[in-house]
Amino acid sequence: VAPPADDGLHRKLVWLTFFRVAMVAVLLGGTAIVSWRESADVQRGLYPLFALAATVFAATIVIAVLLRLGRFDAPLAYAQVVLDVSVATGVVAMTGRSESVFLFLYSLAVVNGGILLFRRGAGAAGLLSVAAYLGVNARALGAPPVDSVRLFTHGAAFAATAVLATYLAEQLRSAGQRLAERELDVSNLEAEVRRSQRLADLGRVAAGLAHEIRNPLASMSGSIELLRASPAVGEDERRLMGIVLREAGRLNDLVTQFLAFARPAAPVRRPTDLATLLSETLTVFRNDPKAAGLRLESELATVVADIDPDQLRQVCWNLLTNAAHAVRIGPHPADGAIRLRCGGAADGAWVEVQDEGAGMTAGQLEGLFLPFFTTKPGGTGLGLATVHRIVDAHGGTIRVESALGAGSRFTVHLPAAKGSR
Ligand SMILES: Nc1ncnc2c1ncn2[C@@H]1O[C@H](COP(=O)(O)OP(=O)(O)O)[C@@H](O)[C@H]1O
Ligand SMILES: [Mg+2]
Repeated sequence: VAPPADDGLHRKLVWLTFFRVAMVAVLLGGTAIVSWRESADVQRGLYPLFALAATVFAATIVIAVLLRLGRFDAPLAYAQVVLDVSVATGVVAMTGRSESVFLFLYSLAVVNGGILLFRRGAGAAGLLSVAAYLGVNARALGAPPVDSVRLFTHGAAFAATAVLATYLAEQLRSAGQRLAERELDVSNLEAEVRRSQRLADLGRVAAGLAHEIRNPLASMSGSIELLRASPAVGEDERRLMGIVLREAGRLNDLVTQFLAFARPAAPVRRPTDLATLLSETLTVFRNDPKAAGLRLESELATVVADIDPDQLRQVCWNLLTNAAHAVRIGPHPADGAIRLRCGGAADGAWVEVQDEGAGMTAGQLEGLFLPFFTTKPGGTGLGLATVHRIVDAHGGTIRVESALGAGSRFTVHLPAAKGSR
């Protein structure tokens, strides 16, 4: 049976039990040795003390058995507080009451209570100690008369010990909690690091594999192309070979996109006019079959940014490709527009691709930048993951707004070039 997790109460109980036995053994053993050569009368006077020690040892055996069961920790803690105060009272009663050299046992009981049960333990032990001490010195209970200032001083000292023990115990508890929280943080972080390490390893293997697929794929496509050109090939075979070539082309696209994603080159930045770069990209896109028949509009303000032009072209291309697809499957496939804009802001430059396409559901928005997240048949789900990676590498951010059935807007912010401000 696992002991309940409660500020390590079980562990503390075990330690304090050991501590109590050791202390009683040392105190009383010491007393026995010192009184070895004393008269028989003096030794007889010590019998009650030894009886008390025997009681403590017996109680300890009971406590140890209950601790082993592990189910009575909280009541045991209170029982120990009572036991400590009782032992202190017994020893004090036998060794001169308010004159006893063992008065410090009350303070120990209070500190033990604080260690075990924090504020409540120290408070309970403090109250019990004051009450027991006053009881031991009460005239009504057969004690000789005592100076009341002395009684008050001792009582106040026990109370002060209780306050101090409470303070220290609570300090200790909150420090322990903070430490536990920090340990949790650290172990989460370590798990995170291990996970991303594994992913990185996996990524390297996959990238190597993808790279190796390319060459045989190219040979296969080339061979099929040659075969298809042969006059001996019939119409049916020609069609089948066409399918092979088309699928090989798709596989090659996938590998290309995957490598762009998995083997990102560090951006090679240079000051570049975004308006020129984007309008060139748009011109190429206009002539791509993907954009055939679509309305493409642009508002490009000259703005120079410190970027890798190839990588930014890729960002723009991926966003335009998605926008084109969204318009085709959207509510206005015939006349939905795609708008490409760019401009400068106080803190850098921005590029925006807006479409009047299908828009996105909450689920789509959530998975958007995850690699391999796609809702398209034949999609790779790598376009936006690559966009995100490139924008990140440039120290920029990307924002998405989308309304289902109305369209989407992707806005990329790039930080101002170093030294441009
Ligand atoms: N402009 C857009 N309009 C609507 N949905 C979009 C848009 N851009 C991206 N998406 C959604 O995000 C998904 C991931 O896009 P992407 O990473 O480019 O991969 P892919 O285009 O291969 O599916 C798409 O499948 C689509 O569901
Ligand atoms: Mg895409």
